[in-house]
Amino acid sequence: MIRIAVLASGSGTNLQALLDADLLPGEVVLVASDKPDAQALGRSRMKGIPSIGLDRKTLGRKAFEQTLEDLLGEHAVDLIVLAGFLTILSAPFVNAHRNRIINIHPSLLPSFGGKGYYGERVHEAVLKRGVKISGATVHLVTEEADEGPILAQQALSVADDDTPTSLGQRILKTIEWTLLPKTVQQYCRKLEEEMQLETYLKGLRYPGRGILCGLSEEGKALLIYFITARSKHSRNRMLVAQNEMVRTQAIDESLLVDPSLIIYRAIDRIGNAFVVANGDQSDAILASLACGHSFEEGLAAATYEPDAPNYTPRISALFQTGGPISYTLSILRRREDGSCEHAFFPSAKLQAGEGHLIHTYEKEEEPLSSFAGEPRKMLLKGSGETLAQGVWQSLDERVRVGLCVKEIDLDTHEVQTIIINAEERR
Ligand code: GAR
Repeated sequence: MIRIAVLASGSGTNLQALLDADLLPGEVVLVASDKPDAQALGRSRMKGIPSIGLDRKTLGRKAFEQTLEDLLGEHAVDLIVLAGFLTILSAPFVNAHRNRIINIHPSLLPSFGGKGYYGERVHEAVLKRGVKISGATVHLVTEEADEGPILAQQALSVADDDTPTSLGQRILKTIEWTLLPKTVQQYCRKLEEEMQLETYLKGLRYPGRGILCGLSEEGKALLIYFITARSKHSRNRMLVAQNEMVRTQAIDESLLVDPSLIIYRAIDRIGNAFVVANGDQSDAILASLACGHSFEEGLAAATYEPDAPNYTPRISALFQTGGPISYTLSILRRREDGSCEHAFFPSAKLQAGEGHLIHTYEKEEEPLSSFAGEPRKMLLKGSGETLAQGVWQSLDERVRVGLCVKEIDLDTHEVQTIIINAEERR
């Protein structure tokens, strides 16, 4: 499901159109306003949707955007729709949500858009200029107000006796109320496709090592670990299961020069806590958990790998499958000044058919660049078995080395382990 937040400042008739429409695979999960008393908020409250009015004037732009960011994170929002939202969002905010903010504007952009053109002012300018055709535009939001890529447009004729109000109402009622929901739904379908784990992986040539935690559509816990590698030394590996533990093992022991970064426990468990890691930090994490300490404490002394010039990040995950289900993904990566960032990403809302993926390399360039930003939300179709086949097929066959999928039934605690190695397929 694509989780939508709608931001509105005024009467919220476009919000109403979104609430009344079928947006599937999208769903409005949050509504927020820059005005605490915006009429729009009443419409979504009636539907039981969390609706929050923030006073931007009192808060100031920075605190307003930070509060908004916190809310978006809390509600695990994937897409933001501006439906008559009159605050211009800052460049850092917009860039943090690239291709994830949609706006509707009541003119045929690029005409009559940008700073100062909002609500009736747009129609006043249209009438003053004497244009004969106007309409509405739905577009993606970029740093420059009203200048992002256009997703949809619809036009109508301006009548000789139109006033700003009559023109605005006609555009709203005959165009905006249908164009916005229709375009949002189309965009949600596109996002849904892009967010499929297999589609995402197919788009990467060299992700390095990857960890995914999530829930299958059936609601079973899923842990996925994959290895892609380029060098002969690093490719001389396979994943093997020893009881519940999964580790890496050299295919040809005689070729093993330095095992320190390539031979390790990739997945293990202590009670109901499963640990996944791309290196021997798994030992430190499991030792920490064994003495009642935390995942974070277990990683406190660890850093990125010393494999200059790539400085491969150490990625790890903890999946708690007993009591309240939760997972945390972590990355230890090199900052520009050489220091190590210890980043932890606890799961917000766990939903069936969704998970979060982290992998070591962002781009295949020399040296390799570390995974940037936060774990990516992925949509997961089918069972562990189908996902294992799908993920394996999606990894570039020139670099894929091994894959392990663990599927855990949260009621019976039964664990199914699927391992695929390139070696066995040769
Ligand atoms: C709509 O006409 C929308 O296009 C416009 O505000 C109105 C909101 O109406 N947006 C802008 O001008 C953005 N620059 P609503 O509150 O009834 O949906």
